[in-house]
Amino acid sequence: MFSRRAVLGGGGAALATAAAGAQLLRPSVRDDAATLRGLAASRGLVFGAALANYQLRAPDFTQAFLRDCAMLVPEYELKRFLTEPKRGQFDFTDADALFAFAGQHGLLVRGHTLVWYAANPPWLEDAVATAKDEAVFADFVRAAASHYRGRMHSWDVVNEAIEPKDGRADGLRDTLWLKKFGPEYIDRAFVLAREADPGALLVYNDYALESGAPHNDARRKATLTLLEGLVARGVPVGALGLQGHLLAFGLAIDQKKLAAFLDEVRAMGLRILITEHDVDDGNGPLDFTSRDRAVADASRRFLDVALDNPATAALLTWGLSDRFLQPDGERNALLRGTPRMLPLDGALQPVALRAAIAQALLGARKR
Ligand code: XIL
Repeated sequence: MFSRRAVLGGGGAALATAAAGAQLLRPSVRDDAATLRGLAASRGLVFGAALANYQLRAPDFTQAFLRDCAMLVPEYELKRFLTEPKRGQFDFTDADALFAFAGQHGLLVRGHTLVWYAANPPWLEDAVATAKDEAVFADFVRAAASHYRGRMHSWDVVNEAIEPKDGRADGLRDTLWLKKFGPEYIDRAFVLAREADPGALLVYNDYALESGAPHNDARRKATLTLLEGLVARGVPVGALGLQGHLLAFGLAIDQKKLAAFLDEVRAMGLRILITEHDVDDGNGPLDFTSRDRAVADASRRFLDVALDNPATAALLTWGLSDRFLQPDGERNALLRGTPRMLPLDGALQPVALRAAIAQALLGARKR
């Protein structure tokens, strides 16, 4: 069993712990043989991944997904630009298709996302500007949450509402929602979601909470302030969603700060979900071995802390296979080559990241 102390020792510690962890594997349980969902379940956790309908056209991928995942989260299908293309005309067809797949195979589903500043339909900005009427977000929250009432494991009710660089004392992001409605839009979104679906776990979801730079300190502080306020006002938030988008060759994980932060979240009575884990391998060497090792090590340093917190209930990666990651302009294909940031590579072979996740799950405390 990994103690937190064993993994808090700086750069080499995670690799050393990963090596030690290999000896803990029972002979019958090899990383590649055991499924991630099985390993997670043995610790009282749920493992899952983001999924998109088009990916299910590939039978080999579908099989791989079902082997490892006990939960799915639609990558696009519940984003508002797709679900409310014209104001008041809701279309949940694509997300319903993922629900049907989940139903056939006994998978849990989480919802992403109800109120976000991004991925909105083109008409929305004008509608927000025209009148101060909360219907412009309330109608959507009600429509989506009630459509899946009783069927959703959890909802990302508000996504990415914090950005200290925007200069506000409370660290909130200066979004279209904040400009029009003030910070209360966050409270209202949670209250409306709870009214529409009394059963779902309601989540505040955000990123860049794992590293030790001043910017990350500010983000953690703003997150705790936000969550404390919500809890104090009786707003029905149930969990923090830690997106867990990491960089293999960027800022390192600060295990001490992350552990202390998650302890505070837990002390508020909230659960923790790791909602969008992946490790960007940009800016690394071209050879797969070095990149895979750095990706796995970053993940391990993160997961050893996050899965050690008894409040952590689920781990989802943002996709399961690199097959669907397009090395587009943004990813700078020429310099970086094929992206290696998810548990399975493009040929659905498990990479070092999958082994690291398996090891971290094995090392996680039982719930
Ligand atoms: C991303 C998708 O994966 C991309 O394909 C898309 O171009 C942009 O959105 N945080 C979130 C997710 O909450 O919705 C984002 O997903 C990744 C960052």
